[in-house]
Amino acid sequence: MKFDTPAGPNPIDRLRVVGQPLDRIDGPHKVTGTAPYAYEWHDVTERAAYGHVVGAGIAKGRIAALDTSAAERAPGVLAVVTARNAGELGKGRMNTATLLGGPAIEHYHQAIALVVAETFEQARAAAALVRVTYAREPGRFSLHAEKDRAIKPDGDTPADTAVGDFDSAFASAEVTLDATYTTPDQSHAMMEPMASLAAWDGDHVTIWTSNQMIAWSRGDVARTLGLAPEKVRLVSPYIGGGFGGKLFVRADAILAALGARAAKRPVKVALHRPLIANNTTHRPATEQRIRIGARRDGRITAIGHESWSGNLPGGDPEVAIQQTRLLYAGEHRMTKMRLATLDLPEGNAMRAPGETPGLMALEIAIDEMAEKLGMDPVEFRIRNDTQVDPEKPERPFSQRQLVECLRQGAERFGWNRRAAHGSVRDGRWLVGLGMAAGFRNAPVTKSGARARLQPDGRVTVETDMTDIGTGSYTIIAQTAAETMGLPIAQIEVKLGDSDFPASAGSGGQWGANSATAGVYAACMKLREVIATRLDLDPATAEFVDGEVRGGGRAVKLADVAGDGQIVVEDAIEFGDLDKQKQLSTFAAHFCEVGVDALTGETRVRRMLAVCAAGRILNPKQARSQVIGAMTMGIGAALSEELAVDERLGFFVNHDLAGYEVPVHADVPEQEVVFLDEADADSSPMKAKGVGELGLCGVSAAIANAIHNATGVRVRDYPITLDKLLPGLPDVA
Ligand code: MOS
Repeated sequence: MKFDTPAGPNPIDRLRVVGQPLDRIDGPHKVTGTAPYAYEWHDVTERAAYGHVVGAGIAKGRIAALDTSAAERAPGVLAVVTARNAGELGKGRMNTATLLGGPAIEHYHQAIALVVAETFEQARAAAALVRVTYAREPGRFSLHAEKDRAIKPDGDTPADTAVGDFDSAFASAEVTLDATYTTPDQSHAMMEPMASLAAWDGDHVTIWTSNQMIAWSRGDVARTLGLAPEKVRLVSPYIGGGFGGKLFVRADAILAALGARAAKRPVKVALHRPLIANNTTHRPATEQRIRIGARRDGRITAIGHESWSGNLPGGDPEVAIQQTRLLYAGEHRMTKMRLATLDLPEGNAMRAPGETPGLMALEIAIDEMAEKLGMDPVEFRIRNDTQVDPEKPERPFSQRQLVECLRQGAERFGWNRRAAHGSVRDGRWLVGLGMAAGFRNAPVTKSGARARLQPDGRVTVETDMTDIGTGSYTIIAQTAAETMGLPIAQIEVKLGDSDFPASAGSGGQWGANSATAGVYAACMKLREVIATRLDLDPATAEFVDGEVRGGGRAVKLADVAGDGQIVVEDAIEFGDLDKQKQLSTFAAHFCEVGVDALTGETRVRRMLAVCAAGRILNPKQARSQVIGAMTMGIGAALSEELAVDERLGFFVNHDLAGYEVPVHADVPEQEVVFLDEADADSSPMKAKGVGELGLCGVSAAIANAIHNATGVRVRDYPITLDKLLPGLPDVA
């Protein structure tokens, strides 16, 4: 199904099932432990052996000597795989460093060996016997130190944009701000580690794994192992969180396959937690300079945003300027990205890559600017709203209700109770309110599905779409139920298998809209085949209450397929509507914090998000997405930071004890409101996505609330108490 003109009325608009706050259909499997995660496939192969990964102990250099003989002789050991005996390996398109290093080492904890043994304990014990001598080389580990050597990256997203004459407009502006903000490296810290079980059948490998993007990753496994893609099957129906860390093939999948080949047995490999931060990818640190010029009446005349990030050679920049190209009006504009070469582990996508760190900076800057202008920060944002792409004014937003989000949020949150900075006390707590705008693009991408009418009238949907905890199973079942006129209990959904049609996958918050649109396309084709079989006009046949109605007849779906099945496949393919119009999602985030006047400890007390993100397919699940993202925003604001050892080149706090994410006690009352929207330009579903939007702007809202509580402005995340203490009012 081509989608190249705005959606008209269609069966989804009935909203009998879609749009309802239904429970997750996979919930019972998950809470009863019957949903197999990657490390838990016990019955699909002969008994698997266990692989344990050895990570490099240096950041850059070479392995001078590698002695695996003691490990090979250890009890239970079946094989030791290294770059010396693994055969020639390629590299995945999505990988920056190779997944099995040696003799050259590209980053700390790059995998250099896999020890395979009968039991996990034997594999781990033997891995400790691998003897490595390194020739260490100096590396580049400090973004700040490398900043001046950063280059203009060439990639899909242009590094620089300019409209008008930023420099002179800024120089002549009545009120100006010029400030620099920094965001640290962050780790995805998902609950389920990367894990894979691999089994060979001749030259065909099946990998049960935990991966967000099955089609991408199947291709990259094939490239790495030198196989045709048809020889690779990936199975990933349940995923314990990804946040972008599982968009790509990682060492667990490749090493499980190599280990299984060497041991001639199925092998399972989980990356142990202390390996994940340095072995896999992370959100790269940024340094961002923002300049804003405005007239006294609060209109922005000049806005400039420059961002520096670093990566391994061949890696991408963090696109932290993305939202500044689109969020606020302003005649004279400039954005610029620069990329430094670093020998730290690979930086890559983490939930709302680009906008998350970009808004952490921009939305503090906007707050600072409002203060300079003596304006309310909500009003300042409203005054600079734009309904068109400010860099290409002929391009409107398909829908943009940011102003409505801001107004409703202010009203619901009691924003008018906000007082002067540092003026509200509650015992030892300094209390403040803060807010920020949220913005995240809503990309669409081709997505396929297979729909099967069973003899009993049930419909099965198969697609390689994944559910990373987001609720894909349920919204896909809702889509099929709505389109076919069936109750949701009559739909079966099978996901995450490369034997199924390729989908959009879970990334970039495109999954919900694109993958359900693909399922809609397949179900519409199924309706056509069914109607034709019944001699009905597919255009007017109605599918409702388990029946097909038309021409004065009503036939039960259960009577259509006879003894067989009707199987169809289709995909949604997007034209250029997303070029003609800008598809984005919007939010207003509000929060209240208390900062301990004596210790500088910050507690978030109350949060509200008002979101405008197209049709909400399942409000219960969408709310879960947003409150989860808001929680992540608390972490980014207050505690999350991979600490870089700038001498040795690695992340020091590489476990969940040292890398601090919010726990239940850190998460306050959270409220989420969705504006009523249906975006006909986005897809037949008229939906967008909320999984990343929910995080965008949250941390700046907290930073702004801290400033309101204390009068202290911190521009360097995370906002830990040591950064607040020197500026706190004297309360002794
Ligand atoms: Mo997302 S960072 O594309 O999983």
